[in-house]
This record gives sequence, structure tokens and C-alpha cells, in this order.
Amino acid sequence: MNTDMLDDLSAITLIGFSYTGKTTFGQDIAKYLGWKFVDIDQEIEAGAEKSIHEIFAEQNGESRFRILENQTLKNVYVDTQIVVATGGGAILDPENRETMAEHGAVICLESNTETIVKRLKSAPDDPSQPIRPLLAHPDPHKTINELKSARQKLYSIADWTVHTDNLSQDEILEAILYGAQIASRRIKMGTLLEQQHELKIRKDPDNQNLAYTVITDTATYPIYVGSNLISSLGSKMRAQGVTGQKASLVLDAALIPLYESQARDSLNEAGYETDVFHLASGEESKNLNSVSSIYDWMVNRRVERTDPVVALGGGVVGDTAGYAAATYLRGVPLIQVPTSTLAMADASIGGKTAVDHAQGKNLIGAFYQPSLVLADISTLRTLSSRALREGFAEVIKTALILDADLFEFIEENASALLNLEEEPLVHVFSRCASLKGWIVSQDEKENGVRAVLNYGHTIGHALEAITNYTSILHGEAVSIGMVVAGELSRRHDLLPSKDLDRQNKLLQGFDLPTKLPEFDMNAMLEAMTLDKKSRGGSVRWVLLQHIGEALTDQSVDLEEVQQVIRNLKE
Ligand SMILES: NC(=O)c1ccc[n+]([C@@H]2O[C@H](COP(=O)([O-])OP(=O)(O)OC[C@H]3O[C@@H](n4cnc5c(N)ncnc54)[C@H](O)[C@@H]3O)[C@@H](O)[C@H]2O)c1
Ligand SMILES: [Zn+2]
Repeated sequence: MNTDMLDDLSAITLIGFSYTGKTTFGQDIAKYLGWKFVDIDQEIEAGAEKSIHEIFAEQNGESRFRILENQTLKNVYVDTQIVVATGGGAILDPENRETMAEHGAVICLESNTETIVKRLKSAPDDPSQPIRPLLAHPDPHKTINELKSARQKLYSIADWTVHTDNLSQDEILEAILYGAQIASRRIKMGTLLEQQHELKIRKDPDNQNLAYTVITDTATYPIYVGSNLISSLGSKMRAQGVTGQKASLVLDAALIPLYESQARDSLNEAGYETDVFHLASGEESKNLNSVSSIYDWMVNRRVERTDPVVALGGGVVGDTAGYAAATYLRGVPLIQVPTSTLAMADASIGGKTAVDHAQGKNLIGAFYQPSLVLADISTLRTLSSRALREGFAEVIKTALILDADLFEFIEENASALLNLEEEPLVHVFSRCASLKGWIVSQDEKENGVRAVLNYGHTIGHALEAITNYTSILHGEAVSIGMVVAGELSRRHDLLPSKDLDRQNKLLQGFDLPTKLPEFDMNAMLEAMTLDKKSRGGSVRWVLLQHIGEALTDQSVDLEEVQQVIRNLKE
């Protein structure tokens, strides 16, 4: 199991009833991770130089024990990378519960009463175990049951519960580690959200158009958002240290009369010898044949390692030229010049490049960060109204998961945005680019927080797949997907109804679909579980907690999904 994710975690605390294996498995986990193991009961005994049994036997013994337990627990978390096994009653104290929850992952080990009685009977006669007297009780099952159910609610503070009864030792260890990973992701997300409130857009005072600088393990690059930027494309590339001689401009064929000469002039002026490859418009061009033709063209031009590929167009050009740039000579500089709302808000940022395979979308690709992203919002004037609105689904998504203020701004400026008024457009796309750039900077390869960007995409991808990527555009599918995910969030007592209404109303305001078209439910569910974002057959959802904050890795019953979908059919 890959435990890298746990590096950011300070502690794993095991809670649960007595005889559920907290000490045994705690030791095993600590050994496996190379972490320190602490057993709170043993610490208390060492500190008091008495056995727990002796402490209990003193006057007010139990309350004295609880005080010692409380202090010991607080002290252990001074260390990091520790596995802590707690006593069965530690969760009774609200302060203890808070201390545990504040320090890393809390995992509950659960066993049924039968197992507990069996272990209790076969355990060596240890008088320090306060529940041992239960055995003397005429009906230990009943007493243990009662105690367990009284504590059940308290055990629910755990990030994850492992039912140990029918698992092997290895399976239990694996389940604990899995739970710790999920907790680690949640904690990381929480910290990021805190940072985000102070998110400082890395701005260059001399350059008003710089929206954000993405910094990942593999690259550092600026994202510019503004009007009439194509004229400064070449000079910005030079300023960014793109030294090559030849620029390979890959252009959506529909944009030839609109932007080719402007881009070519700008590149030539900056001293790049420029040639243009025309990629036929549409998703049908996003395949290996096109990539192969681009390679041929580049080989013929004798393009070298430092010579840039410039992708000018929507997501189709960005993904296709991006993949060619990522692989030609093992990678040449890539410049993204997105011209659609979808590409500006999403596709051009973050380094996902890919082409489609007959068996599925985006199956062949690479993570490859660009050297520069230049979003010229003036180009949106020539975009069709449907494509324009489609991209706003991703913009609204970004606001929903990360930024309540941006959401409100879009609500207040919806018609100005649709009328392509410059100021609100620049504000919204700059902010959106900075949010996506910021998430990518934290998690380039989507091992954790980047998953939050998939809000609305579980149903979205499935809808696209069952309609063969023809009748419904990506953003439209995501819009419907957000309506479903929003409703699920509401049912899970996360998203308040009024926030759900605001979400759906804003989507409608951009004329995005909020009802499901006619389709085959089974095909939809199958597509959903086949999507690469599902893991081991179970689909993990991104749900909204409220506008501006999302939770990843939420599990939702397939039954419930079906119900929600049925209610949303047209
Ligand atoms: N890499 C990523 O992270 C990522 C993220 C989201 C989507 N995508 C991909 O992006 C693609 C969709 O992107 P898209 O919606 O931009 O599609 P697209 O590139 O097909 O562009 C949509 C349509 O608008 C036209 N067009 C684009 N810009 C124009 C302009 N300024 N003026 C006039 N016409 C213009 C195009 O010719 C096309 O017909 C999909 O293949 C999707 O998989 C990638
Ligand atoms: Zn998307």
C-alpha cells in the first residue's frame, strides 16, 4: 500500500471498545510505518507507578484515572508520527474527543459483542482491565451490548471505522491505513481551505494581467488573463524564457480567419520563425492520428528541444497539441492560448494533456505543464453562444467548491458576463484561473485535493459517455451532474436547501441544463462505475458542504443516486 499520503499526518489514534485490538493493531501499524507507538493506559501506569487496577481501587479512583487519562492524552501529541491506542472509555470525555480529533486521524476498531466476550474469556487474567468484572456478570453479553450502544454515538467521531470481526490481521491493518489516508486527505483539504481565505493572488504590480503563478514540482508558470493579449504573445514567451527559434502554432481551423495572422505576427515580431498547423475543429480531431500528423509536421520542420508549441483554440487544440508537445523529443515548451470559456477556466491550466481512443475519452495522455497560459478574453466575442455558456458551468463549479465571493459576484453580474463586458469577465476568469492554479500547485497529479475539481463530474462523465459525446457538451453534462451532486449533498445534510436553490438558479441563468435527458438508467450506472474516477467499483463523490466549500471522497449509495436521477428526468 502506498503510504505517502500519510506523511502529512501527525498521528493515528485508535479508539473503540475494550478487546477490539487497539493495542495489538496499534503496535503493528506503528511498526509498519516506522512510527512511535503509545498506549495511553500503559503511559498512565508508568507515570503513576501503579497499575490501572490499583488506581481504580483507590478512593475516587475512577475520576482520578480519567484526569490522568486526559492529561496523558494531551501530552502524547507533542510528538508527531505516532500511533496512539486509547482505553475503551477515553472517548467519554468531550475534551479528549476534541484533542484526538485535532491531532490527525481517528480510527475506530469495532467488534461485535460475541467476539469481545470470546476475546475477554481467552485473555490472560489481567486485573487492570476495568471491564473484566463484566465476565462475572450473569449476562455479560447484555451488559456489554448496553455499554457499547451507549458509547456508539461517541465512537462516531472517528474518521473511519474498521469492523474487525471477519477480517484477517493483514486486512485489518490495510483497512486502518486506508482510513488514515482518507482522514489525511480531509485534513489537508481543511488546511487548504483555511489558507485559501488568505489566498494571495501572486500578482506582479507591473503586470495587471498576471492572474496567478502556478508552482508545481515540475514547473513554474504564469497565467495571464486580459483583453487583446494575443498581440503580446511572442514577447510574453520571450519574457518567460522560451528561447527557441521556431514556433509551431497549432490552430483550430475555424479560427484561421479570426486569429491566425494576429498570433503569427506577434510570434514573428518576437523572433520566432513561425509555421501553422490547422487542426480540424471538434472532438473528432482529438486523437492519435492528429498527434501523428503534428509529429510529421514538426519532424519536417526540424523542430528542436527548445522550440515551443503554441496551442491556440479551445480544449480540443489544447489537449491535442499539448500531448504532442509533451511527447515530441520527450517534451518541448508548450504555450496554452485558450480561446473558449471552457479552456480558459479549466482545460488550459494544470497540465492534463490527452487524446481520445476508440474505447474511451482522454485514454492516452500525460501530465505536462505549459510554460505559459495566455487567456485573451477578447477572443470570446467570436465564440458561439452555446460554447460560451458551456464553459460557465466550469466557472460556476469552481466558485461552488472554493469561493463563495466569486459565486456571489457571478450571480450579481450574470448578464454582464453573458454580454461579454470586459471588466467582470477579466475578474471572473482571473479568479477562476488563480483558484485552479492554486489547487494544481498543491496537488499536480491528482492524488488528493485536486479531486475537488471533479464536483459534478461523476454524473457528467457518465452522461457524456452514454450519449457518445455527441448530443451533450462537457459543460452541459457537468451542469446536470452538479444538480445531482447538489441534491445528494442536501440529502446528506451537508448543503442547505437555499444554497442548492442558488446553485440551480445560477446554472439556469446561464441557460445550462438542469434536467436529465431521456436515457437508459442501467447504462448510466454502468458508465458511472466504469469512470476512471471510481475506485474498486465504489464511486466516491465530491459533495458540497455549502457554497464555496466541498468535501471529497464521500460515499453515496447507488440506490440513492438512482432515486435522485429518477426525480430529475425530464
Ligand atoms: N486538459 C484538461 O484539463 C481539460 C479540462 C476540461 C476539458 N478538457 C477537454 O476540452 C475539450 C473541450 O473544450 P472546448 O469546449 O473548448 O472545445 P473545442 O476546443 O472543441 O471548442 C469548442 C468549439 O468552439 C470553437 N471555438 C473555440 N474558440 C473559439 C473562438 N474564440 N471563436 C470562435 N470559435 C471558437 C471550436 O472551433 C469548437 O467548435 C474536450 O475535449 C475536453 O475533454 C480538457
Ligand atoms: Zn470538466
